[in-house]
Amino acid sequence: MSTAGCAVAGGIASQLIIRIGLILFGASSPATARKGFQMSTSRSQAGGQASSPRQPVRDKVVVITGASSGVGLETARQLAGQGGEIVMIVRDQARGEHARSQVAEAAAGKAPVLLLADLSVQADIRRAVHEVTDRYDHVDILVNNAGAAFSRREQSADGLELTWATNYLAPFLLTELLLPLLVAAPAGRIVNVVSEFYGRKLDLGNLQGERKYSYFGAYRASKLGEVLFTTELARRIKGSGVTVVSVSPGPARTNFAGPPGVLGVVLGVMQHTPMFKPAGQAAGGIAWAATAPELAGDSGGLYMRGKQLSLKGAATDQSLAARVWRISEQQTGSTRLARPSRPSQPPADRVADLTHSTPLGLALGIGSLSRRGG
Ligand SMILES: NC(=O)c1ccc[n+]([C@@H]2O[C@H](COP(=O)([O-])OP(=O)(O)OC[C@H]3O[C@@H](n4cnc5c(N)ncnc54)[C@H](OP(=O)(O)O)[C@@H]3O)[C@@H](O)[C@H]2O)c1
Repeated sequence: MSTAGCAVAGGIASQLIIRIGLILFGASSPATARKGFQMSTSRSQAGGQASSPRQPVRDKVVVITGASSGVGLETARQLAGQGGEIVMIVRDQARGEHARSQVAEAAAGKAPVLLLADLSVQADIRRAVHEVTDRYDHVDILVNNAGAAFSRREQSADGLELTWATNYLAPFLLTELLLPLLVAAPAGRIVNVVSEFYGRKLDLGNLQGERKYSYFGAYRASKLGEVLFTTELARRIKGSGVTVVSVSPGPARTNFAGPPGVLGVVLGVMQHTPMFKPAGQAAGGIAWAATAPELAGDSGGLYMRGKQLSLKGAATDQSLAARVWRISEQQTGSTRLARPSRPSQPPADRVADLTHSTPLGLALGIGSLSRRGG
């Protein structure tokens, strides 16, 4: 092929890669820039914040799932660098210990704590919540970050489709169970890590991939589920003092397992383009959403790199969000759970808000919680 031919072919190939990238990762356009957000690498963020007098998470209890790798690990490092006490929920002891040492190195406050749980297993989630509840009387920040995607349909230990169980039901159940501790914090914050590539439609008859399954289909459905969970939770916890938002890190260079076949190869190539940010930089947007004072009380939004994205398609359907919530309760048995040992009594006005204004408060039985001795 001639040089010109090579250039044209190369141009077409790069255009194709960019188009696929835009379809996969860049479908939403930023709507609102938020003040005070700075992208930075984890090293500079952690180091800079550690020496800064402004440490927004000093002594705050921060629970992060999937903290052994990628943006979860980098978010843990950044928030540790800001003085937070990081509780890292990971599924593998060795990877977890390795990550913990990195978070400890960045820490400006207390040493990080490691909890083991395979989040696709509901019994593991309940056990992890017991451990958190035994240790803390409140949780300031919960980052539901762990996520995965699978080439073939697989089932979790609970008999549920694995992508849905890991990416969607795990945050749903973990949040429900930790909510009393988040309410007990002065200003609890929940950050659900989603993708701007979430599905624009949801087939309620195929939530388990029982009729049709694909890597992207299952992943996008699970991420739409998380966005809907955020908006429905925002509605249910209004007035509780807890803020919940969705955040996409945007395309980032991490260990996330790509799709099979040609698309996997294309995405592998794209990882080396500027469209994909280093994990530490992408984590900056998550750390920001976990701490930004301007988001306090402003629940339900979706953010990427410090900017609000408008919700699209099924993500705007509040009745769908309520239906998915009810399905999730059935799939987790969450309303029937025996509560782990309870947190400190939240302020009376918040209890009143939750128990009287939302079904969630009743389901959680927050009004009957008693203060732990002392
Ligand atoms: N990278 C991107 O371009 C991108 C774009 C948009 C959204 N996201 C989202 O960002 C989040 C983090 O992904 P990442 O890119 O940082 O990928 P990653 O490097 O693969 O990290 C994923 C984390 O989730 C954990 N995890 C997966 N399944 C788990 C399970 N069953 N139980 C407990 N932990 C589990 C992994 O643990 P192990 O270390 O044990 O595997 C790992 O710590 C995900 O929710 C993903 O959907 C990523």
